[in-house]
Amino acid sequence: MAFPTETVYGLGASALDAAAVSGIFRAKGRPANDPLIVHVASLEDVGRVAEEVPEAATRLGRAFWPGPLTLVLRKRAEIPTNVTAGLDTVGVRVPAHPVAQALIRIAGVPIAAPSANLFARPSPTRAEHVMEDLAGRVDVVLDGGPTDVGVESTIVDLSGAAPRLLRPGGVAAEAVEQTIGVHLLGPPATHAGPATAPGLLDVHYAPRTPLVLVCGPPGVARARLLREVRASLEAGRRTGLLLLEEDRELVPSGVVCAPLGSFEDPATSAARLFEALRTLDRAGLEVLFAREPADPRVGMGRALLDRLRRASAQRIELNGGIPADDGGL
Ligand code: TXA
Ligand code: MG
Repeated sequence: MAFPTETVYGLGASALDAAAVSGIFRAKGRPANDPLIVHVASLEDVGRVAEEVPEAATRLGRAFWPGPLTLVLRKRAEIPTNVTAGLDTVGVRVPAHPVAQALIRIAGVPIAAPSANLFARPSPTRAEHVMEDLAGRVDVVLDGGPTDVGVESTIVDLSGAAPRLLRPGGVAAEAVEQTIGVHLLGPPATHAGPATAPGLLDVHYAPRTPLVLVCGPPGVARARLLREVRASLEAGRRTGLLLLEEDRELVPSGVVCAPLGSFEDPATSAARLFEALRTLDRAGLEVLFAREPADPRVGMGRALLDRLRRASAQRIELNGGIPADDGGL
């Protein structure tokens, strides 16, 4: 059953039922080495899926649950191995959306749920997006309207010697660090075997239309973005743009735009990002453009850049004195 959470729609099944869980992988076309997040109704229920709940988990749970934070903990034996892709850890989250909360409580079991999109497609932020990808492949879609946060949960691994940020998301990594008083390490280096973070998958969240992402300081990136867009139009290509509010007046006519928020308001851009990617993808375009929609070093800006990088087919890096691919502006 697909259902809304405050981040994105999830595709759920009982996390205690291996056969039901294999249905999730089948419906999404998801590789079996990509573990699922298990959703429970409250911090008190984490002990149903995790072998132990360390002090740091309790603190983070009190601070951010219900909400867009997933903690990776040692798993209990009752959780079937296909939920965790054979790992001895499990990702757990307490979602805030009232429909998700009601579903978990009525089901009476922890619910395993990845995002309710076809594998590698942008995550769904509306029931319509779930239908677009999974109609005929799922039994039920609960429609709770558009989701609030719009990007997936922040994933923090507490199962090892030192906490790691596996995925930036709806909760700022800095806020997690403040709460536990520890600097978060990044994801572990790539290795064969189960994917321990979506970071190991380079292309993800991707529209079918190729996306070109311009990275760098706002002024320089905007100038370059507009140049690329104009060149694309002049070459006669049907061109789309993820539009920041600041750039609205500058965009040449003939470009198909999907609005994000302003550079200073990453929460709005996050809420609109996946919807914008899907809208542009349906518009019969040949190429899409975007620039970094917020400061990529902090908070939601980090999550936005992460998703856009993975969605992009090409990146133009204009960062700090490193020569750009054409020698800069
Ligand atoms: O906001 C969200 O996190 C949404 C909603 C539905 O809760 N869920 C979601 O799941 O986005 P998704 O499709 O991103 O898949 C979960 C990701 C996996 O790709 C995996 O990298 C990570 O969570 N994950 C799950 N269990 C893990 C584990 N035991 N160790 C490391 N990473 C894990
Ligand atoms: Mg996903």
